[in-house]
Amino acid sequence: MIDEKKLEELKRQALTQIKEARDEKSLETARVKYLGRKGELTQILKSIAKLPPELKPLIGRLANQLKRELEEAFKEAQAELKKRREEHLPGVDLTLPGRPYPLGRLHPITQVMQEICEIFLRMGFSIASGPEVELDYYNFEALNIPEDHPARDMQATFYFAPKVLLRTHTSPIQIRTMESEKPPLRIIAPGKVYRCDSDVTHTPMFHQVEGLMVDEDVSFADLKGILTIFAQETFGSETKVRFRPSYFPFTEPSVEMDISCVICGGEGCRVCGQTGWLEILGAGMVHPNVFRAVGYDPQKWVGFAFGLGVERITMLKFGIDDIRLFYENHLRFLEQF
Ligand code: DAH
Repeated sequence: MIDEKKLEELKRQALTQIKEARDEKSLETARVKYLGRKGELTQILKSIAKLPPELKPLIGRLANQLKRELEEAFKEAQAELKKRREEHLPGVDLTLPGRPYPLGRLHPITQVMQEICEIFLRMGFSIASGPEVELDYYNFEALNIPEDHPARDMQATFYFAPKVLLRTHTSPIQIRTMESEKPPLRIIAPGKVYRCDSDVTHTPMFHQVEGLMVDEDVSFADLKGILTIFAQETFGSETKVRFRPSYFPFTEPSVEMDISCVICGGEGCRVCGQTGWLEILGAGMVHPNVFRAVGYDPQKWVGFAFGLGVERITMLKFGIDDIRLFYENHLRFLEQF
């Protein structure tokens, strides 16, 4: 039988248990024990209906009052626990699992550009740089490309003003370096260049590495030797190279260098258009007019220069067939390098 004493005893027990709960879990256990669907007090409340009529009002009132008291006590105890935790480490839930920290890495273009520079640094070249917003003079004039020269059509140019533009190649760095330094010199110049062009193999901004070596007895053989070493260090020691005559206004003679196809090894495939060869850079012996523009005596100094596209080299190195992948910034692409 339920009586006042039994309710009193239940209350004492429950309040002690609430007071002693050290964490939310033991508090919840206590709540279920008394107020849960099968809890002790819940059972009592359910059995009131079966009590003798003279006891019903009193026990009913007391039991309901106890229920309210206990609910209140649980609420307070819960708030107290939360407060204590927050005081300790405000806003921090130490029970949450840790989050793995995603690690970034260098962009494939940056990686290849650094690799290219390192190869030349090992051969005694040093790094030079110049502005991306360039004057017509440095981008064209001083490189033996006068105003009316048809070679200007080879590079669709972004202009800010008639004589101010986004550099279309890294070759103006040759001029700026020779203006500020005396020969002999050996420089490599990596950087961004801009052309009004966009398709699977062209983006309006891309990267080049320029090279220039000037001394009293530099020859075409030096050009061939150094660029062969570069090709073999970049694409593997089995790589073969060939030089084809070409035309650039700032070099004479001018060449383009091909490497044996990195996909088929020279057999002929879709990538090399069945030729077995892939073009990777332009080069040549510095034109006397370029030396004149910077005040170097063309009778005394000889030099060779070259320029290569970093995106193209990276595509060949990693077998990437769409240049735009470099600039869409999809993590699933970038994380492969
Ligand atoms: N500037 C040329 C281009 O962007 C590449 C080039 C060719 C650079 C021959 C050179 C060179 O220094 O000698 O198409």
